[in-house]
Amino acid sequence: MQTKNTNDTLTRVNDVFTPESNVVHVEIDNIPCKAYEGESVLSVLEAHDKIQISKNDHQQVAGAYCGMGICFCCTVSINNLKRRACKTIVKEGMKIDTQKNTEDIVEAQFLENIKNN
Ligand code: FES
Repeated sequence: MQTKNTNDTLTRVNDVFTPESNVVHVEIDNIPCKAYEGESVLSVLEAHDKIQISKNDHQQVAGAYCGMGICFCCTVSINNLKRRACKTIVKEGMKIDTQKNTEDIVEAQFLENIKNN
């Protein structure tokens, strides 16, 4: 179940305890949400109940499996670059898009390059 606030932000629903580090602000699928310095992108996604996060070339949706960088089942788009969520530390202003496969990301990078040139 994914919870959404009335002011269009995602709410963390799966924290075991309240993290004590500084808050950073990110977007998951274009919805603003809160993260904490030092946590992985996968931790942020799971805290917000996002478990169906990647999509393979056969359009099958998957979730994180190993949690340690081996299986690539947590591949997401971070600032339009393909990254493993479990191996990426969250940073202020990150734009995280789930269920995008390589072709989606390559197309987004192509369009961004056209826009900037
Ligand atoms: S969960 Fe396996 S690489 Fe991230």
